[in-house]
Amino acid sequence: MYDITVVGTGYVGLVTGACLADFGNNVTCVDNDAAKVERMKALELPFFEPGLPEIVARNFNEGRLHFSSDLAGCVRDSQVVFITVGTPPRADGSADTSQIYAVAKTVAQNLNGYKLVVQKSTAPVGTARDLIGWIRKWAKKGAEFDVASNPEFLREGSALETTLRPDRTVIGAESKKAVEILRKIHKPLFLLETPMIVTGLESAELIKYASNCFLATKISFINEMANLCEALGADVQMVARGMGMDGRIGKKFLHAGPGYGGSCFPKDTHALSAFAKKAKVKSGIVDAVIAANEHQMDRMVDKICDAVGSPKGKKVAVLGLSFKPNTDDLREAPPLYVIAGLKRRGVKVVAFDPISMTKAETLPEMRGVELAADAYDAARGAHAVAIITEWNEFRGMDLARLKRVMKKPVLCDLRNIYEPAEVEAAGFVHVGVGKGRPAGAGKARKAAPKKATPKRKKR
Ligand code: UDX
Repeated sequence: MYDITVVGTGYVGLVTGACLADFGNNVTCVDNDAAKVERMKALELPFFEPGLPEIVARNFNEGRLHFSSDLAGCVRDSQVVFITVGTPPRADGSADTSQIYAVAKTVAQNLNGYKLVVQKSTAPVGTARDLIGWIRKWAKKGAEFDVASNPEFLREGSALETTLRPDRTVIGAESKKAVEILRKIHKPLFLLETPMIVTGLESAELIKYASNCFLATKISFINEMANLCEALGADVQMVARGMGMDGRIGKKFLHAGPGYGGSCFPKDTHALSAFAKKAKVKSGIVDAVIAANEHQMDRMVDKICDAVGSPKGKKVAVLGLSFKPNTDDLREAPPLYVIAGLKRRGVKVVAFDPISMTKAETLPEMRGVELAADAYDAARGAHAVAIITEWNEFRGMDLARLKRVMKKPVLCDLRNIYEPAEVEAAGFVHVGVGKGRPAGAGKARKAAPKKATPKRKKR
């Protein structure tokens, strides 16, 4: 077991630190925000994540997990340093890696014996190799260290599950010693037969971006199919099911909806596009995925506005603010984008989210948005209810009660969690995503293009 420092206590750092401690290592999570460190010592965590408070408390109380703001001291006391700091997007979409380099400089200046520096923040391909030179530059001559890349595939809302039982572990390392240490650290996962891929630094880094961009591609693709379904009278859930049965395609990440959000897909697609451009490589597919996602969120605004007739002055209840359920993360959350669009169209928005309202309150997108006590409170006097994040408590609402409090019974189910027939039977107008109506029944059908004029025969 190792003495490990994990630098940065965002989602990745805190979850990684807690899990490494749970594997039996002696872990210190370091953050330069001293107040945050004090709160964590009092077991107040900076974000909501199911199961995390328990695993943090257990390891903290049993003395395997510590919190500190003394990076230099922690580095000197560790054999392994994980860098898990933020890489926020710059204006041009590229990832800002300055925090990684700042941490690496302190690590370099405190190398008092061999240390393995594990780059775990999502950073452009080439960062890990670049860090070798950077650390050498700031370290004493002859200092011994290795740099490895160990990308994370953590999903918010199920962070522990995806960290403790991942589909795979990726180790990018070029010395036997580094590979050995990372193998040992991840040993408990091999007992669960988690496959491991050991590869070079660049490949490991690209695996992370390629995976996220591919998943984003699946989502944008099915959203495009959903739009086709609406125009052609098909049902995207059936289409996704039929596609997913093909083992080569797989059924996951084929849920049509308002577009993807969160701290990863939007940022990573833009970052890949930026480093592809720098490498003079065309990233047409990923660029199209980004554009399709923005288009999808715009379509959601149109959908809701169409559903209420003329939008100006109408009241819409938005259910769900976080980018997905079981998290209070509002980064790039589609509901916020949709709310901004609705407000621009003159809609009066009332919102409810089970967990993230306190965080949402201060955001500029939420200015002028009324916050409700629950879904029914939000729906009071509304011309439409729009479910944008599929929290469990929105799945089984009492539709009769909802209808009673609303001005107009319109349900925009942007996550397709209700059966249209059930909603309509309760007296609602149902609006889903990709739930086309068969010939003649839908608006889109009426708007179908006239018979094409027969092509002239080619000579
Ligand atoms: C993602 C990756 O899944 C994870 O492996 C990586 O490490 C970080 O990025 P996360 O951002 O936590 O994780 O959420 P995820 O569950 O992947 O959802 C991302 C977004 O896509 C959400 O807005 C979600 O609603 C949306 N989504 C997902 C869809 O619209 N349809 C789907 O079928 C799946």
